[in-house]
Amino acid sequence: MDTRPIGVFDTGLGGLTAVRVLRRILPEEDLIYFGDTARVPYGGRSRETLLKYARQDLRFLRSFDLKAVLIACGTVSTTSLDVLQAENDLPVIGVVEPACRRALAVTKNRRVGMIATLASVRSGAYEAALRRLDPGVEVLGHPCPLFVPLVENGRVHPGDVVIETVAREYLEPLLEWGCDTLILGCTHYPLLEEILAGICGPGVTLVSAGEECAFELKRLLSAQGLRAPEDRRGTAEFYVSDQAEDFEEAASLFLAEDIHHMARRIDIDQY
Ligand code: DGL
Repeated sequence: MDTRPIGVFDTGLGGLTAVRVLRRILPEEDLIYFGDTARVPYGGRSRETLLKYARQDLRFLRSFDLKAVLIACGTVSTTSLDVLQAENDLPVIGVVEPACRRALAVTKNRRVGMIATLASVRSGAYEAALRRLDPGVEVLGHPCPLFVPLVENGRVHPGDVVIETVAREYLEPLLEWGCDTLILGCTHYPLLEEILAGICGPGVTLVSAGEECAFELKRLLSAQGLRAPEDRRGTAEFYVSDQAEDFEEAASLFLAEDIHHMARRIDIDQY
């Protein structure tokens, strides 16, 4: 039994897709969330910059006495996971493997599409993990660089002509190619789930990297005896690196939980 909190981070709102599942499947756990809203989006940045930012994000989170860290960001997971795991003496998990395992469990035609940020697609990490788990699988990855800024600006509602147009253009090559499973390899994308599902139709199963990593974390905590007692109610603290109000508004809606006046701003340059 271990009541220390779990650290979760992303560049902004995306990691909340993991938090929402964690609150449901591990309600007894305390969570410390950090969204690097001052520097979002990460997706077009170089590996060196991503590693520098990710180290700072983790250093901030580790100012708390954590029992595990969930990198609820596809971009950091695809480019920096190994280094962060090697540098930290606590369990650090990312989103890639859990999403790939789920995709392989649901695909029938073994054609798996993957959408993510430019940095994630360039890294080839999802393809590598899928092929390692199933050498016969076919994979097509496609970057969607406009999705994160649109999500961060609240353009997530079906019927919004801007996001619908962009999404159709991004998904077209994958749908023409004939995938029956689509990995949402960036944790912001499940906030667009309704729109993406509408465009893909019922023949394509969407796999959320943000959600699958939460299940993976639960397995890991159980296996290592790190779970908190089930008779307690966990808390959640939210930190951001820029003004908190917009984050609180969007996060309250997405989590269906009022977090107004709860997010605190920190200076990430100090870490
Ligand atoms: N949620 C992050 C991811 O999963 C978004 C990256 C970004 O800020 O571009 O990749």
